[in-house]
Formats: sequence, C-alpha cells, structure tokens
Amino acid sequence: EPPGWVREVDVVVVGSGVAGLTAALECRERLGPDSLVMVVTKDVVAAGSTRWAQGGIASVQAEGDTVDEHVTDTLVAGAGLCEPAAVDVLVREGPDEVATLVERGTQFDLDAAGRLALTREGGHHRNRIAHAGGDATGAEIERALVATVTSDPGIEIVEQALVLDLLPARTDDGRPAVAGVTLHVLGEGTRQGVGAVRARATVLATGGIGQIYAVTTNPPVSTGDGVAAALRAGARLRDVEFIQFHPTVLFLGTGARGQLPLVSEAVRGEGGLLVNSAGERFMVGQHELAELAPRDVVAKGIMKEMAREGTDHVYVDGRALGEETWRVRFPTILHSCRQAGIDPTTDLIPVAPAAHYFCGGVETDLDGATNLDGLYACGEVASSGVHGANRLASNSLLEGLVFAVRIAEAIGRDLPPQREPLEVVSEGPDAWLVDPAVVPALQRTMSRDCGGLRGGAGLDRAADQLERLAGRRSEQPGLAAWEATNLLCVATAVLGSARVREESRGAHWRDDFGERREEWQRHLVVRLGEDGLE
Ligand code: SIN
Repeated sequence: EPPGWVREVDVVVVGSGVAGLTAALECRERLGPDSLVMVVTKDVVAAGSTRWAQGGIASVQAEGDTVDEHVTDTLVAGAGLCEPAAVDVLVREGPDEVATLVERGTQFDLDAAGRLALTREGGHHRNRIAHAGGDATGAEIERALVATVTSDPGIEIVEQALVLDLLPARTDDGRPAVAGVTLHVLGEGTRQGVGAVRARATVLATGGIGQIYAVTTNPPVSTGDGVAAALRAGARLRDVEFIQFHPTVLFLGTGARGQLPLVSEAVRGEGGLLVNSAGERFMVGQHELAELAPRDVVAKGIMKEMAREGTDHVYVDGRALGEETWRVRFPTILHSCRQAGIDPTTDLIPVAPAAHYFCGGVETDLDGATNLDGLYACGEVASSGVHGANRLASNSLLEGLVFAVRIAEAIGRDLPPQREPLEVVSEGPDAWLVDPAVVPALQRTMSRDCGGLRGGAGLDRAADQLERLAGRRSEQPGLAAWEATNLLCVATAVLGSARVREESRGAHWRDDFGERREEWQRHLVVRLGEDGLE
C-alpha cells in the first residue's frame, strides 16, 4: 500500500516530552527561520512521561556543590556501567540547560533568597534537585515547553500520530541511514491515515517502555514504540536489561494494574522514612545513606523486607513532615493519597516497587547520533551512557535536555541531505502484527519473571511464554496491534539480555547470580539479525 500522503521537512522529532520539545526548539534555532521541524506524538502533546515527573531535575547549583561530586554520585549509582565521558557532558552542561528552561518560562520553586529551592533524592550527597509546583516538576516543564513550541510557526505538531516504522535509506557510500518515518495519523486534521514524513534528520524522543510490566509509574503511552522501530530499522540497543524499579509507588492492592501514583523520593529527601509493618526502619545499616541510598539499593531493601515479612508492601512514614509541608511541597502526592483514603499527615503510606525507568535504549554517541545515519535519539529512549546499570534520581529530565541540545548542535553543524527512502512500510494486510489481547499476559509474565528480582528458571519460562504470545497474529492493524507488537518486541529484547547477564548489578538483580562479577563489567548490545534478535 503506498502512503496516502507525503510531507517533507528538515527534521522530524518523534515524541513530545522534555527531550522531543527541546530538540524541536533547538533545531529551529540552529537551522534558521526558514527551517521546518515536525513533532509527531502518539497521543496529545502532554500525554508522555515528562508531565508525571515529580521529584525534579538534578544539576550543580548549590554553593559548595561541584561537577565532580555530581559525576561521582552518578557513576556510583550506575554500578560500573556508566560511560564517564557521557556523564561528564551531562553534569557539566546541565546547569546551563536548566537556565534555558527558566528562560523558556519554567517556574521552579524558589527559596527565601530567590534562588532555586533544592532538595535531595536517593544517591545524591548534596541538595541539587530543582522542583516546581512542589512535586509537579514535569508538568510545569511540559507546560512551559509546549507554550514555547506552539508559538513557533516553524514547528508543526501532529498529534494522535503513531510512528509505524522508520524510512530506511542509504548514504552515498552505502551506509544504512534513516530518511524519516511512516506515520498513521489517527486524529482529525488535514492529514489522516498512513503517510510518510521525509526528513533530513529524524530524532527519536519516544520515552520509555514501562507498559511491558503489569504495574508501572509510566503512562499508558509508554509502549516502547521508538525502541521497537529503531530495532526494526537496524539500530543497536544497549543495556536493555536494566529496568529501574522505583522503590515507593503507592500500593493500591494486589489487583491494581497499569499506571500507579508515585510517592517521590523527595518525600524521603525531606525526612520521610521507610518502615515495615511493625513500624520499624529497615534501611538503616544496609547503606550509609539508609532511605536515601541509590534507588536500586532501596528497591532491593524493600523487596527483601517484604519477602522476610511475607507482605506485599512496606510504608513511607511522612507524618513528621507536617500538614504544611505536605500541602506546599507534595500537593500531587497528597492528592493521590487522599483519593486512596490515606492521609499522609496521620497515616503511613503503603508503597511497593514498580517499573519506572528504562536505563538502556537506542545506543548513541555524545551527540545523540545512532549507528544509522540521520537517526538520533535522546531522553529515555536513548542509551547515551549516562545511567549505566541504574539511573541516579532526577538525572532523566536533565539527560533529555542536555542531549537534545547536543543533537541540535550536531544537526546544525552537518545537516544530512534529503535521502530517497528505500521502501515505505505499509499497514496493509501483510503487516505482521501481534494480537492486542496478548498484552495482559505479556505484562504478567514480565512482572513475575523479569521484574525487580529475576532468576534463570523464571527467565526461561518467560522466554517460552513470549514466544507463544508472538505466534498470535492480529486480525486487524491499528494502534492497539502496533502497540502490542512493539511491547512484545521490546520485552523480548529485555528478556534476552536479562538471561545472558549472569550477575547482579544495579537494577538487574538475579537470585541465581547474586553478586556483581568483574567479567560482566561490560555492555550488552542487541540488534536485529537475519534470524531475529542477536
Ligand atoms: C521521584 O520523584 O522519586 C522520581 C524521580 C526520578 O525518577 O528521577
């Protein structure tokens, strides 16, 4: 089936969170007033993960804080797998990009002296996390960026547009390249149905993959579409076994499914404690930072405590914070708790770990470039090397910003030519798509056998199950079938790497290989070969 329409732009950005919108704005600045940038997004602009970010954005701001200390905290959290050059770029360039966010209208919370109010989260030895609206940091950043993007006539936003695949192409000297995307526009508007957007540069900023799990902090749109499309196009994925489980997600009962409310680490940063069902603290003695240890350490501590007690949750005790702190600093969490019948000023908050962040992704260099010419990736979809085996809290918004700017600089320096696509992927009856009915089983399998704690037998069982599910074809193309296909593709990649990595490191915790092993201080890379993933 040929596409119904073709559009030509300079840059197409897929995704509309902090990374995507920043990339769009920065590309326009670098490419000049006549340039055309298109932002395509699967739902409405603000539906992605950015607006759910609570704690904030980390950068060196406080008096006495240094680049070296932020770098060290990031490297320690990353458990030996960060790329030091990428971490250096992130931390060094971070403060300037936070300042740009302010210039673009983000209103961070200020202290009495009018400077950024800074809090602390797990793994940080300093207060360096700026926040907005108390615990609504991502929503405020998204608001400001959407306002800036929509006032730029050179940026076209196409909502309700699912990227089916990347347009394959070749460079003049025969290297694999990407020349834009095939889109299915589901919403109303001038463009509808399947079409092709030809672009000199394609930027993936599609966010994470949390929906491969039964419970997650991620919104429903986080189905790994960009990761899967990149893989199908020949991109290299790296570190995909490292899925970070957030330690404190509101526990709403064993039957709860899908996106659950986060109880930010900042609650612990402001004095909240973790206690078991007997009301005893259990992180003390496990790590010098106790409740504020790096996230993987706290998640493991909670999982061990739940196993010891035979329970399915522990508690955050935030009673000492007092009514005013709850109201001013944590209005979002206060609201979520109250909706669940919990008053955090007087009650303990039940919490359990849930899937939160994809530390790996599409492998990029320091300019966000992938192994495919003309294809860039930034934000959660990317593996820039800054997170290693476990991301440091509040480094993710920062990564989205810093690498979006570097991508725009690279594109500005050397804009690829408009290339002829080799083929346009169709959505016709021949397209191989998975039955959306398999998604709940896929999520249950991943949560049970490839979650916060994994073991060889469970991983093998999950591999069999995913193979069975992959055999179930969709009768009908459409959004649900594409999402199911992408979820299965990404889950298979995660599972494959989790089976291979026979050690425990960062967010990858195996009960059959409980220790970190020196011979595993290396990355695993996944790509699509002739016979499937390799
Ligand atoms: C949180 O607020 O606890 C989440 C921050 C993050 O994921 O970095």
